[in-house]
Amino acid sequence: MFRTHTCGELRKEHAGQIVTLCGWLDHQRDQGGLSFIWLRDRYGITQVTFSPEAGASPEEAEALLQKVRTCRQEFVLQVKGEVIQRPEGGENKALATGEIEVRPLELVILNRSDVPPVQPSIPDLPSEDVRLQYRYLDLRRPDMQKALALRHRIVKIMRDYTDELGFLEVETPMLGRSTPEGARDYLVPSRVHAGKFYALPQSPQLYKQLLMIAGFDRYVQVARCFRDEDLRADRQPEFTQIDMEMSFVSMEDVMGMMDGLIARLAKEVLGIELQLPLPRMSYADAMERYGHDAPDLRYGMELIDLTDIAKECEFSVFRGTADAGNRVRAVVAKGAADKYSRKAIDELTSWAKENFGVKGLAFFKGAEGTLQAPIAKFFNEEFIARIKERLEMTDGDIAFIIADTFETSCRALNGLRRRLAKELELYDPKSFSFSWIVDFPMLEWDAEEERWVAVHHPFTAPLPEDEALLDTDPRACRAAAYDIVINGFEAGGGSIRIHDNALQKKIFSLLNIDDETAKDRFGFLLDALRFGAPPHGGIALGLDRLAMIFAGLDSIRDVIAFPKTARAADLMSGAPGLVDEKQMKELSIKVEKAEKTQN
Ligand code: AMO
Ligand code: AMP
Repeated sequence: MFRTHTCGELRKEHAGQIVTLCGWLDHQRDQGGLSFIWLRDRYGITQVTFSPEAGASPEEAEALLQKVRTCRQEFVLQVKGEVIQRPEGGENKALATGEIEVRPLELVILNRSDVPPVQPSIPDLPSEDVRLQYRYLDLRRPDMQKALALRHRIVKIMRDYTDELGFLEVETPMLGRSTPEGARDYLVPSRVHAGKFYALPQSPQLYKQLLMIAGFDRYVQVARCFRDEDLRADRQPEFTQIDMEMSFVSMEDVMGMMDGLIARLAKEVLGIELQLPLPRMSYADAMERYGHDAPDLRYGMELIDLTDIAKECEFSVFRGTADAGNRVRAVVAKGAADKYSRKAIDELTSWAKENFGVKGLAFFKGAEGTLQAPIAKFFNEEFIARIKERLEMTDGDIAFIIADTFETSCRALNGLRRRLAKELELYDPKSFSFSWIVDFPMLEWDAEEERWVAVHHPFTAPLPEDEALLDTDPRACRAAAYDIVINGFEAGGGSIRIHDNALQKKIFSLLNIDDETAKDRFGFLLDALRFGAPPHGGIALGLDRLAMIFAGLDSIRDVIAFPKTARAADLMSGAPGLVDEKQMKELSIKVEKAEKTQN
């Protein structure tokens, strides 16, 4: 037997037992004739003390000490020894096994290690590139092991919950058909069919709808998805969804089912009791009050509209914006005037210009019962008073104001609101806020391509009461779609689907997908909709995002065992890489220009 216990298992009740442990040498402390080592595995750390009392005789004790002194960090060791209760007051409270230590009788070096570029025992981390290159070392860190264990817990709880509700887990293909809409596809060339390509799934959306048509009624899958899009801290090119679909359901049914899952996860993973149903907010409300469709509701700081006042004032920047039908809106940071010096405001202004394309950032500080700022001179007393009242400002407050189109002011004020809340510590980073966003628009106008695009996806049904608007005012038509938002992240989203062939065709044509393309790319779906498709709907949770949020981490990469960099590269294996001429030939592929540099 390699081991009798793990390195996280031994307590004072084990005192006197002879045990065998295996693990990595976390670190070693030498003190004259003594050597203490910490042996680490994924369950914890146990101290082994090499002293003159080790072994069966003083000679053995000396030999063991000499041997352990040849060991280095991350050597793989096997230690047989006696569990000794530490004397009262000598416990190590930092270790779960701190009540005991092991008096070694035998030491086997199972394997050696070069000096590790990532040292699991040291809290100071090397750069993320080094961590990704030596991911297997990075994954030895207790924090990473905790994050992956949490991810496992989420999936286990989800599987129990959906199993109780009669969901069936069904796998869907990785090699599918490239379809227009959505993000860019990852393509896989076919050897057998020269010049033809499979696409990796951006989500199992169409397959899960086809499973409903096939009568499976309740489907779930831990589904890997692939999207070739610009990456951010909460996005990966390959990521995992908890993907679900149900037949004979309304929005309420899907959201109710998800409420139950979220509540169970919150309780069992976070120890939080949630009130159900989870609160809901309309998309229009979210954009008006927070400037974003996934608002962070752990703090207030709602946007305040000044457009009506701006319309009447003399300050040309505000007035011009309001007259052009655009918006003047503000966020107020209570009591923060002192924290934003002239220099800090200048920095904030350049940041807002660079990131959100605003033309400027105006501010007012509350002081001496009035509002002070360089732009105050453009307003008479009456307007200052009106603005002050509207913004509910008192001395010491600071307001930031943006005059721009609705879209730009949303983007900039959302960014500002999030940044200020973080800088001013307006919320407890360990707290959680859950809500639904509903009543999304069905379509939005893509000015570049001069056509409508689906806000969620082209298979989403309109709200029944809005369906007629598709003919008269598509912009006003709302979708039967819903997003679940946690701490300012879109953790999941779904919709009721179109189950009517004619309506689906109509949506394709609104999206400017002509009959021929629709038939070529989506023919199998349109066909299936002619053979008794039940009303159905579903949702997908982003598992990586959910794990990241629940673990309180800032990067999605920290909950993925082998993630990709922002440039979609795997620094460990070197993927993507060049392939042999022969492989290319078999695939009938010629590369015009290959990247020369490392990923
Ligand atoms: P959607 O595209 O909104 O919906 O995706 C669902 C959830 O998946 C997560 N997600 C991502 N996570 C990490 N990296 C990415 N690049 C990434 N993209 C999306 C988000 C998101 O909320 N088929 C539909 C779902 C449905 O209608 O049932 C879909 O894929 O958390
Ligand atoms: P200007 O008239 O461009 O010199 O700007 C005067 C003040 O108004 C400066 O403090 C600018 O930062 C601010 N400002 C300019 N454009 C905007 C805008 N679109 N929104 C908010 N403030 C602006």
